[in-house]
Amino acid sequence: MPCKLVILLSGSGSNLQAFIDACKSKELPNTEIRAVISNKADALGLVRAEQAGITTACIDHKQFSSREEFDAVLQNTIDQFDADLVVLAGFMRILTPGFVRHYLGRLINIHPSLLPKYPGLHTHQRALDAGDTEAGATVHFVTEELDGGPPIIQAKIPIFDGDDAATLADRVLSKEHTIYPLAARWFAEGRLSLQNSKAVLDDKNLPENGVLFQPN
Ligand code: GAR
Repeated sequence: MPCKLVILLSGSGSNLQAFIDACKSKELPNTEIRAVISNKADALGLVRAEQAGITTACIDHKQFSSREEFDAVLQNTIDQFDADLVVLAGFMRILTPGFVRHYLGRLINIHPSLLPKYPGLHTHQRALDAGDTEAGATVHFVTEELDGGPPIIQAKIPIFDGDDAATLADRVLSKEHTIYPLAARWFAEGRLSLQNSKAVLDDKNLPENGVLFQPN
């Protein structure tokens, strides 16, 4: 049985594209993207999904008077696709504790910083303002703490003189496209899980920052 993914996004969907390409090229074997759901009708990610023949849904958060109501409809929609793993790929909504608990251990996110540094927004500008010498991205299990769940894998890039938030975002994104499908692959292979609030890969607790991605 293939591992069934539902991918949530709000924008460009370049990470979604990386999943689509990885499924096609067998980098992400035995995995099927069952649906892509956006909270924004004009998200380019929806177009990418349609072009790949993937079922899409849009649930506009502005139509709901509370986060709980929005999350209840979102949960109901995801569950219609019988997802094994829910993948947040640039989904720019804070999720309610009830939603997160429902998917605990099968909900992952990618965040454009070297967590635990810079949870929240404007990560690249914050790294520049702090005078950091490296930036990066982290894939992590989602828990009730915003961007605070156990890291699975992290990729680092050097910050060069003359970098700005846009150049950093570009270089970090290209790493995201490698590490995110890889984390999903580990999950689909049954090698990755959340146990006692720790990310576990091949029966070993992962270090605090997850696996450090080392390109060959
Ligand atoms: C990515 O950089 C992702 O890490 C970030 O949004 C971007 C989405 O790009 N996610 C967050 O900031 C979540 N807090 P994409 O739509 O091209 O995949």
